Amino acid sequence: MLPLDRISMLPAALLLLLNAALSAAQTRTTLQTGFVTTISTAPNPPFFILAAADQLAVSIALCKGTTDTPGPRFFLTNSSTTASPGPDGGDNVFEIVLDQGHGSWTGTFPSGGVLGVTNVPPTMTFEIGVSTGVPIHESAAVAALFGDSTATQAILFSPPFSAPDIEAPKYPNYTLPSAIPSIPAAPSDPKNYTLIVSPTSNGLTSMQQTSCALRTQRSTGVVAAQNLWLRDTRGWRFEWFMTGLTPKTNYTAYVLLDDYKVTKPIFFTTKSSSFSCSLVSRLPYCPSIAYAVPLPPPPSPALSYDSTNMPASLADPLISSLTNFTTTLTTFACGRDFYSPIVTCADCQRTYRTWLCAVSLSRCADTDTAPPSAALLPSQSPQTRNAGFAAGSGTFTQLLPCLETCTATDRACPNFLGFRCPLPRFNAAQSYGVGFIDSGRDGEMGGGSTGLWADDYGNAWCNSGW
Ligand SMILES: *[C@@H]1O[C@H](CO)[C@@H](O)[C@H](O)[C@H]1NC(C)=O
Ligand SMILES: *[C@@H]1O[C@H](CO)[C@@H](O)[C@H](O)[C@H]1NC(C)=O
Ligand SMILES: *[C@@H]1O[C@H](CO)[C@@H](O)[C@H](O)[C@H]1NC(C)=O
Ligand SMILES: *[C@@H]1O[C@H](CO)[C@@H](O)[C@H](O)[C@H]1NC(C)=O
Ligand SMILES: *[C@@H]1O[C@H](CO)[C@@H](O)[C@H](O)[C@H]1NC(C)=O
Repeated sequence: MLPLDRISMLPAALLLLLNAALSAAQTRTTLQTGFVTTISTAPNPPFFILAAADQLAVSIALCKGTTDTPGPRFFLTNSSTTASPGPDGGDNVFEIVLDQGHGSWTGTFPSGGVLGVTNVPPTMTFEIGVSTGVPIHESAAVAALFGDSTATQAILFSPPFSAPDIEAPKYPNYTLPSAIPSIPAAPSDPKNYTLIVSPTSNGLTSMQQTSCALRTQRSTGVVAAQNLWLRDTRGWRFEWFMTGLTPKTNYTAYVLLDDYKVTKPIFFTTKSSSFSCSLVSRLPYCPSIAYAVPLPPPPSPALSYDSTNMPASLADPLISSLTNFTTTLTTFACGRDFYSPIVTCADCQRTYRTWLCAVSLSRCADTDTAPPSAALLPSQSPQTRNAGFAAGSGTFTQLLPCLETCTATDRACPNFLGFRCPLPRFNAAQSYGVGFIDSGRDGEMGGGSTGLWADDYGNAWCNSGW
């Protein structure tokens, strides 16, 4: 407050204004910078004070209702002359427009500001976040990653974080990762991510797409295991192994990235109850593999296969091939002589690993739930391609490797290795999914029928080894 002697010197009209502002300020809540305020009843007066700052990001999240019901509207001003920002506009009044329950505004507040809210439905709860950095609430552009499912299980991954610092090998010490590479230490303070899985029929996508709204939904199924896994150089992810799902059901999955940020939804379908393959993941020599292979259920109590219980008949030849390939590759003067201006021995080894894993570990598909044009092949275990699968695991439908896993290796490796792929115009389609990512024309990149090997709706057309 101004000292009384100074107030008395002010012109009468201004004094009135000042009194009005002061009394309003006494009943208005000040939003703390760096905090989230949860409001569960329509505020009266419907205004909040924002402290002065060089820059503030004010974010809103609605915690109740569906995306198509009318919600509250938020108006904000960074002007010292507007006391009650609202739909009638005014000097520097901005509406925070909400999209699927989220909205934010970032700008300068040299003399503070006011946030006004109108049209608050009787049972609405919402959060207001104020930060000096990025908005606290966010609908992140990233999404969960679906590995694969069986009739009642699924493997899902969080978006990546904490990418490891992996230095490309350099001459004269050009050392490629060994067949079983050493894995860097996992981050000791991983993010607090929460997986939400719900049958798509529950309609989570029509709820407000905010962390506070989705958190109220009980996730379906059981997260039987949660582990950190380094699938690729993009970073660590949580790997969630889910059990207790229902066969042939479409599910929606979100990841709550912390208390206030949420990913886009993805969808996946469980297989029919006759599906008899088992999930495999967490193989250091095939780090990106997380799908169903034609193996019987693993020995109890394991729920899936990983490097601790993978049959040696499958793992040993794969590791031996990788070792031999790497030995042959490094007879080339990697890092000193160059066979290409764009690719290196490390790219060759990496693409070969992906290809070898995809062709050695057959991926099972379910004829009932696979997308119509997927590259499916009725197959028999043991297979001609990999005798390591135990005899007697019977028939299954194979999702053929994408031809692009082969052509990527062909492009990344020096010619002397003699790595070749079948040509689309000859017999490639007998052993590969052809024409999904790249067109079916020999050597042409892009232009495939789907442009993708899999999508965010749980469809997979060929096995990318990823
Ligand atoms: C308020 O924000 C607007 C838009 O960012 C900006 O142009 C204006 O200068 C700001 N007003 C003040 C007083 O900083
Ligand atoms: C060569 O590189 C490898 C892997 O980066 C490292 O472990 C090894 O110590 C290096 N050797 C020498 C002689 O620098
Ligand atoms: C992670 O987030 C959940 C849900 O918001 C919370 O219950 C839990 O306490 C958090 N855990 C940590 C370690 O912060
Ligand atoms: C799952 O649900 C989504 C959203 O309704 C839909 O787009 C997708 O096609 C469904 N997938 C299957 C396999 O039914
Ligand atoms: C790798 O090389 C060793 C030694 O030459 C050989 O015995 C083995 O069969 C090779 N492995 C594969 C999978 O070809």
